[in-house]
Amino acid sequence: MMELQNKNILLGVTGGIAAYKAVELLRLLKKAGANVNVIMTDSAQKFVGKTTFEVLSENPVLSDLFFDTESSVKHIDLATRAHAAIIAPATANTIAKLAHGIADDALSTTLLAVTCPVLVCPSMNTDMYQNIRVQRNLDILEKDGWVILDPDSGVLACKTIGTGRLPDPWFIFDRVEAMLTKKDLRGKNILVSAGPTVEPLDPVRFISNHSSGKMGYAIARAAEKRGGLVTLVSGPVSLNEPVGVECIYVQTCEEMATQMLARFDQADIIIKVAAVADYKPMDPKASKIKKKENIKDLSILMTQNPDILKLLGKKKTKGQFLVGFAAETDDLEKNALLKMEKKNLDMIAANIVGSSDSGFKADTNKVKLFFRDGSSFDIPLMGKDKVADILIDQVIEKME
Ligand code: PMT
Repeated sequence: MMELQNKNILLGVTGGIAAYKAVELLRLLKKAGANVNVIMTDSAQKFVGKTTFEVLSENPVLSDLFFDTESSVKHIDLATRAHAAIIAPATANTIAKLAHGIADDALSTTLLAVTCPVLVCPSMNTDMYQNIRVQRNLDILEKDGWVILDPDSGVLACKTIGTGRLPDPWFIFDRVEAMLTKKDLRGKNILVSAGPTVEPLDPVRFISNHSSGKMGYAIARAAEKRGGLVTLVSGPVSLNEPVGVECIYVQTCEEMATQMLARFDQADIIIKVAAVADYKPMDPKASKIKKKENIKDLSILMTQNPDILKLLGKKKTKGQFLVGFAAETDDLEKNALLKMEKKNLDMIAANIVGSSDSGFKADTNKVKLFFRDGSSFDIPLMGKDKVADILIDQVIEKME
C-alpha cells in the first residue's frame, strides 16, 4: 500500500484523554511517508504538548489562527493542499461545531475549508456519546459525506464501562488508507482462504503447518480497501481480524472445504492462500493417546483430505477468476504450472518457501505469478501488503 506516500494529511487533535493515541497515529502516518500537519484545539494541549507533535510531524502545529503562523491564511493553504483529514480524538464540542459550520478556532475554521475526505473519530464518555444531540451531529456529518469511525467499547477514563474509547491507532491508520485507496474492486465479491488447517490426532494434539495467515490476510485487507466485498475463510492464526471483512473461522480441511464451497458460486474472484493439510489422521481418538513405555516407534495412519482448490476448479464458471498458491522448495515453475493445470486455475502464485524472508511466517514474500495464457509476472521480495496489492493489480488486469 503506497496510498499515504507523499500525501498531505491534516491531523486534528481535540481535548480528550485519548489525545495521547494521536501521537502514535502520527508516527504511523509518518512511517507510511505522509506529510502530516497537526492542528490542536486549546483543550487538546492540556492533554499532550504541542512540542511532541511538532517534533514527530517535522511541521509546526497550528493552534491559533492569529499568533501561530507566518501566514494569515495558513489554514486555507493547509485545507487546500490536504488529501485527507482526520480528527482523532473528536470531542462532542468539536463534533457539534463541525456539524453546524461554526468556525471559532484553528481546527474548526480549517475544516470548513477542506474538500478532501474526512475521518471523524469520536471519543468520549458513553452517556455523552449516546446523547441524542451528539448522535444527531454525527448523522449530519455522515450525511455530508464524512466518514465516522465508531468508538470501541471498554473501560473508559471515567471508570465506566461502555462505548466511547478511541480505536487503536493502527485501526484508524487502516481506515485512512482505505479512504484514499482507489475502489477498483467495488461491487466484486472476493473469497479468500488463509492460514493453516489443523487435523486432530486426539483432543490435545494435531497435525498442521507453519502458515501464519499473514499473506492471506494481507490479500483480504487489500481487497477490502479497494472496495471489494470480502469473505475470509481462515484457519487458526493469531492476527487481528481485517476491518470490513466477513471472517469465518475453521480448523480442518473438511471445514474449510464446506465453507469455501458454500460461498463459491457468489464469488467473482477466489484466492486460495491457505496451506491445507493434504492428509489427516485416519482415526482421531476421542481421548488423549497415552505414552506406552514399551512402545518406541509409533505410526499414524493418514488418509487423504479433499483437494479444495481442485473441487473449486471443477465448479468454476465463466466470469469467475480462480487463483491458487503453490508453496515450493524446488522446481518452482514446473510444479506451479502443473498445479495450475490440474486444478483448472486462472493464475497461480508460486511461492518460494524455505528461507526466513519468504513464504511461511515471514513479513515479506517473493512470488512469481503464472497465468493461463502462458504469461508470468515476477514480484520481487517485498512486504506481504505490497505483494497483495500487486497480485490484485494483476488479477484485475487479466480479468479485463
Ligand atoms: O500464511 P503465511 O505464513 O503468510 O505463509 C504464506 C504461504 C506460504 C502459506 C502462502 O503464500 C502459500 O504459499 N500458500 C499455499 C500453501 C500450499 O499449501 O501450497 P500447496 O502447493 O500445498 O497447495 C496448492 C494450492 O492448493 C493452494 O492454493 C492450497 O490452498 C490448495 N490446496 C491444497 C491442498 C488441499 N487439500 N486443498 C487445497 O485447496
